[in-house]
Amino acid sequence: MLEQVIQRDLGTPEVVSDKTVTLTIDGADITVPVGTSLMRAAMLAGTKIPKLCATDSLEPFGSCRLCLVEIEGRKGYPASCTTPAEQGMTVWTQSPKLQELRKGVMELYISDHPLDCLTCPANGNCELQDMAGVTGLRNVRYGMEGKNHLHNTKDESNPYFTYDPSKCIVCNRCVRACEETQGTFALTISGRGFDSRVSPGQDQTFMESECVSCGACVEACPTATLQEKSVIWLGQPEHSVTTTCAYCGVGCGFKAEMKGNEVVRMVPWKDGKANEGHSCVKGRFAWGYATHKDRITKPMIRASINEPWREVSWTEAINYAASEFKRIQSKYGKGSIGGISSSRCTNEEVYLVQKLVRAGFGNNNIDTCARVCHSPTGYGLGQTLGTSAGTQTFKSVEQADVILVMGANPTDGHPVFASRMKRRLRDGARLIVIDPRRIDLVKSAHIQADYHLALKPGTNVAMITSLAHVIVAEGLLDSHYVAERCDEKSFQQWRDFVSKPENSPEAMANVTGVDADLVRGAARLFAKGGQGQKLSGPNGRVNSAIYYGLGVTEHAQGSTTVMGIANLAMVTGNIGREGVGVNPLRGQNNVQGSCDMGSFPHELPGYRHISDTTTRSEFEAAWNINLDAEPGLRIPNMFDAAIEGSFKGLYCQGEDIVQSDPDTQHVAAALESMECLVVQDIFLNETAKYAHVFLPGASFLEKDGTFTNAERRISRVRQVMPPLAGFGDWEATQMLANALGYPMNYQNPGEIMDEIARLTPTFQGVSFDKIDRLGSIQWPCNDHTEEAGTPTMHVNKFVRGKGRFIITEYVATDEKVTRKFPLILTTGRILSQYNVGAQTRRTANSLWHSEDILEIHPHDAQERGIKDSDWVGIQSRAGETVLRATITERMQPGVVYTTFHFPESGANVITTDSSDWATNCPEYKVTAVQVMPVAQPSEWQKGYSRFNTEQLELLAKRDEITPIVSN
Ligand code: SF4
Ligand code: SF4
Ligand code: SF4
Ligand code: FES
Repeated sequence: MLEQVIQRDLGTPEVVSDKTVTLTIDGADITVPVGTSLMRAAMLAGTKIPKLCATDSLEPFGSCRLCLVEIEGRKGYPASCTTPAEQGMTVWTQSPKLQELRKGVMELYISDHPLDCLTCPANGNCELQDMAGVTGLRNVRYGMEGKNHLHNTKDESNPYFTYDPSKCIVCNRCVRACEETQGTFALTISGRGFDSRVSPGQDQTFMESECVSCGACVEACPTATLQEKSVIWLGQPEHSVTTTCAYCGVGCGFKAEMKGNEVVRMVPWKDGKANEGHSCVKGRFAWGYATHKDRITKPMIRASINEPWREVSWTEAINYAASEFKRIQSKYGKGSIGGISSSRCTNEEVYLVQKLVRAGFGNNNIDTCARVCHSPTGYGLGQTLGTSAGTQTFKSVEQADVILVMGANPTDGHPVFASRMKRRLRDGARLIVIDPRRIDLVKSAHIQADYHLALKPGTNVAMITSLAHVIVAEGLLDSHYVAERCDEKSFQQWRDFVSKPENSPEAMANVTGVDADLVRGAARLFAKGGQGQKLSGPNGRVNSAIYYGLGVTEHAQGSTTVMGIANLAMVTGNIGREGVGVNPLRGQNNVQGSCDMGSFPHELPGYRHISDTTTRSEFEAAWNINLDAEPGLRIPNMFDAAIEGSFKGLYCQGEDIVQSDPDTQHVAAALESMECLVVQDIFLNETAKYAHVFLPGASFLEKDGTFTNAERRISRVRQVMPPLAGFGDWEATQMLANALGYPMNYQNPGEIMDEIARLTPTFQGVSFDKIDRLGSIQWPCNDHTEEAGTPTMHVNKFVRGKGRFIITEYVATDEKVTRKFPLILTTGRILSQYNVGAQTRRTANSLWHSEDILEIHPHDAQERGIKDSDWVGIQSRAGETVLRATITERMQPGVVYTTFHFPESGANVITTDSSDWATNCPEYKVTAVQVMPVAQPSEWQKGYSRFNTEQLELLAKRDEITPIVSN
């Protein structure tokens, strides 16, 4: 395989130390940090030592005995992977004796290995094959007729990789990868001596075992024993392109390994700072949707949603959309149209959409899907700390002593970060989980939370305030930090507020449902660390870090909880260094970026208010336009205005608002009342079924631009294949702007980023060239920061100056349980599916999760006569749907849970229009429902099924025209 595809392997992991040693290897001097292995030192010096069981992503194991070296003055032949370099050592890696020993080892391996190299899928990328070559093995004295494993059967149960035990050399790399890198502990070596073999679980198949298909073992395997099926089908790749995963907000770097324009496999990028060579099942394997047969690659238009689609040229589609938008504006007014940008799209694409709306439509009716997920983060962190973003790098968790996870389920939602967090927990950090469900982190292999505060949904504010009460009342605060870094007046007011007896854990126990002693214990742990724990903060203080997710934001008091989290971090002095901080785990790949790029109706790029005259005039001068100083409509306002009749046209790029937004029937009614809905997507998603113009979108493999992850890390998304529809998404937006009469003339996305940098102080130092050189950049990046930006925010002072405490009064949600609706429904996601599922449902990931299921506690199930797998009707004041039930003690009594990955489930038919007081973020996490056994789908589901069938038929009838290659 070409050298450029293979990532460098230095044999053992990097060691960080201030002290160094100098030694001589094969006559050359090399200086390395203390603790570095001889193998790594040799590799750094340019000398490759043969190896099989070692790889630089895993701790050395010392089992294969291939890496033996000679050390002057020492007897024997130590393994270089497990021997640390020492000052003044003289090491020889090559000698006739070493050659003989290594050849002997290889002979034993090969005597029990099928000699089918020419037809083996790893041919050209097999370390065993390489080592046979390196050691000069020419014949094998031990015959194949003896006892061997050549006829062991393959395990093909996993859809993405095979396990062929006949090729296994029992090097243990896979087992260690599953433990050290992934933290799942799904693999063991069963049997002894000759009978040892890798075994998922208790002699199960991979699919039956605990395996979560992250691929770490496949990546670690030096032979074809664990092999991607795509490589078996397509052969070895010939070039690779470094890009960024388009699923979650972790933003893992990948090498897309290619044959021409075809992806052979996605391999996690070792130098990617967000993932450091790890991945999850989605980014690693679930990319087949990009070339799925359902992709729509030609523009289509229709006058009404009851007509068949008509395939047209790009020019006709764009001109039709522009003329409709102009017609609507002249009839109903300038504010009658708007746009929705997408957190799946690149920063450059999002920037252009908001520019199109503000400059081309002439209004500020631009919003983004962050409205329905992390808008409270923007508001809450902006108010308290002064900027709307997480404070740390992911790596920072490695220095945390106490980790508080609130309303997040990282092992499912942010799996690669979860693996990193679990590693730190196995190394001794303590864990507090605040979540109504018993998520996997509460208890999993070698992980046990110190506290699980299983609160009632909707009571986050009461919980966060009572934690603060304990810290203040028991004097556990960091007074020095508060005096130096925070606003005194706001602190005193807040301190007086949280100290009130009604905010104590005892008083709040009725509200939260959590025992006061547990809350007190968790507060003490967060503020001071655990007994006997060696603490890493300054002067032996604790480093406590908070990670939170949509279980915090998607509430009527979402913004209040975010502010409460910031208060808690400030009062304990846990912001502004490594190992601490406030870390929103962003859901979608570019939700941070879509907010940064000015997608909210009230904010221009860089979170500057549209009413600010100085900011507005900078954009007016650059864009040659007058901007409206009034914020435009938010997404829910657009729907309401559509139903009222004043909002008639929408450009929706890369979002499926029908499936993802709450109260589906309300959203559908709003879209039905529009005169021109333009949807740009890769599939005919649920929203596109209500569209009049369909513009074919580009998948992440076809995009060129940048994504910004939850660490504020801007990474390149590089095109690995040309856009299937002929144009990138940014080009379609540009064509629409030009057709509307607002000129745009970018030659490439790099020029768009240059404009963003010119107009946005926090992005001033960002460019494609710099990202290409450095790998990634964390904003803010400008003349006042390091070249690669800002890894940790608020280091010496808060962005807003003094940190501001804000009073967090608990207000019970209006969404209360009643006799009619006695249970609380909360929603979330699972590992194998992603968001509305448009991508992952079109991959083999559906083998793990093929429908949305309702989780219910055994007590609630028994009361209703519900048995496992029964169909149950879930009814709320917004609507009703029917799902299959799973009875589980993960749930607490009174609370049920489901996901929203399948359109026919209609999870959002049930969710209501209740929303966060500050940002309108929907209260997805609290819906009062009743659950009862039923025998047939709900009325909504029957209606959905009819409408879906009609729309697919209308799509199938679309006229065929000559493929468009250019305009
Ligand atoms: S795919 Fe991941 S979880 Fe599964 S066995 Fe391999 S390392 Fe473990
Ligand atoms: S499956 Fe691969 S990595 Fe695991 S022990 Fe066998 S050869 Fe080594
Ligand atoms: S953790 Fe997120 S970014 Fe990383 S591979 Fe998985 S889905 Fe992609
Ligand atoms: S590589 Fe050192 S013992 Fe295997």
